[in-house]
Amino acid sequence: MSIKPVVAPSSADVFKGDIFQGKVLFCTGGGSGICKAMTEAIMRHGANATIVGRKLDRLTEAAIGLSQATGQTCVAARADVRQPQQLKEAVAMTIERFGRIDFVICGAAGNFLASIDGMSENAFRTVVEIDTLGTFNTVKATLPYVRASRGSYIHVSSTLHYKGTPYQAHVSAAKAGVDAFSAVLALEEGPKGVRSNVIAPGAIADTEGMSRLSNQMSRSINSPLPYPLGRAGEVQDVASAAVFLFSHAASYITGQVLAVDGGYEHVRASQLPYPEAVLDPESIKQMVRGKL
Ligand code: COA
Repeated sequence: MSIKPVVAPSSADVFKGDIFQGKVLFCTGGGSGICKAMTEAIMRHGANATIVGRKLDRLTEAAIGLSQATGQTCVAARADVRQPQQLKEAVAMTIERFGRIDFVICGAAGNFLASIDGMSENAFRTVVEIDTLGTFNTVKATLPYVRASRGSYIHVSSTLHYKGTPYQAHVSAAKAGVDAFSAVLALEEGPKGVRSNVIAPGAIADTEGMSRLSNQMSRSINSPLPYPLGRAGEVQDVASAAVFLFSHAASYITGQVLAVDGGYEHVRASQLPYPEAVLDPESIKQMVRGKL
């Protein structure tokens, strides 16, 4: 089966241009990939934004590009989501600059391929700390402002943990925690007007996550995979889902997980090629050493 060319529409072709006028987005991991695309889409509907990450150079460049592309204002804030104090400072900067926070995307994540046997305790902990603890830290830092605006959270998770995915024990554990955390947040904060949902992207082309994984695998994202919708995902597909979930059209939706994967979840046995890689001991050895 061949992969069809780009067809993902822009949310600007579907939703009105001003639905987020006056709103402010706080997005961790917003300097690149899926989270940057989500930020751009939300800004195109009128919001200003703070993007947060560890690499200030890349963030600043992204913020300038996002501002120019959308005509809104995007600022960069350096923070490691594992460091609550750094997040609090990024939030304080956002409030000083924009006066409010309406939307939060908890998107900062880490990933690499490693077997359980080949992974150190610190490797496992690092991903759980970035993905799961980082989500908790981001929510703690922003919640007073999101309550004040009766705003909304989107947590970026994954479909990897719905079935066992080899070499992804750390990410699977971390993202399962994110999904559970979002559900609890939705229940606790719903009465205060705050919504919390998860977007679970499938295989999305041209992202750091996919290039990290596919560079290490014998089969790439462009290999034939049985996507029911006949094409690989694009960052715009995830961005449009975020626009919907933050919009009033989703005002009765909370505590949900929305997979944006072209239906792949329902046909896959595993997110990664299996058993080919598993049956090739030399590949595994190289993979866990980060050489593939
Ligand atoms: N295989 C096995 N272990 C690995 C690894 C790999 N490919 N890459 C990192 N690790 C281990 C390290 O060896 C270290 O463990 P150790 O101290 O026992 O040796 C541990 O993970 C932490 O690595 P370190 O590089 O110190 O952490 P970091 O905080 O600087 O980096 C990562 C975080 C590891 C998640 C890194 O991959 C990263 O920054 N990724 C960028 C974001 C990303 O992956 N985005 C895509 C999301 S889908």
